[in-house]
Amino acid sequence: MPQYPVALVERHILDRAHRSLERVLARLETTAEVAGTLGGPELAGTVRTLLDDVDATLRAHMAWEEQVCYPETDRLAATPWASQVLRLQHDQISRLLDQLRAADLGGAEPHQRAVSELRGQLYAFHAILGSHLEQEERALLGLLVAEPAAPRADGLEEVEPRR
Ligand SMILES: [Fe+2]
Repeated sequence: MPQYPVALVERHILDRAHRSLERVLARLETTAEVAGTLGGPELAGTVRTLLDDVDATLRAHMAWEEQVCYPETDRLAATPWASQVLRLQHDQISRLLDQLRAADLGGAEPHQRAVSELRGQLYAFHAILGSHLEQEERALLGLLVAEPAAPRADGLEEVEPRR
């Protein structure tokens, strides 16, 4: 079985996770767009389902990044500050999620102000999460891609094929 460098495996996981988070971004935007057309119970249910899915995917992904991917990034960059801004963004994303969870959408006909606030929070969350993913891809994937391959276990060096 081939031995892959840790950075290559992490890069693959990160890349796949971000592709699935792009679907979360699309749902956030769609929910913000249609929020004003839904009645209270339907809007509350739509937002709750969306947040449940975000919790299940995004929070687990952020925990993995903080425990596995960011330390590797700091090691490759040779500084503990490499991932610091990204960690702060995770805190901001978690706070926004908590705010969305706490939104009071009222009864059958939610107050227009509550809907406007919810839409603002959804768009803010969309913008911050989208920006965060882009920064991670620029910062982390660049470092992880640049990681040289692990030396062969048999001590031999890889030879470029002749052209
Ligand atoms: Fe992240």
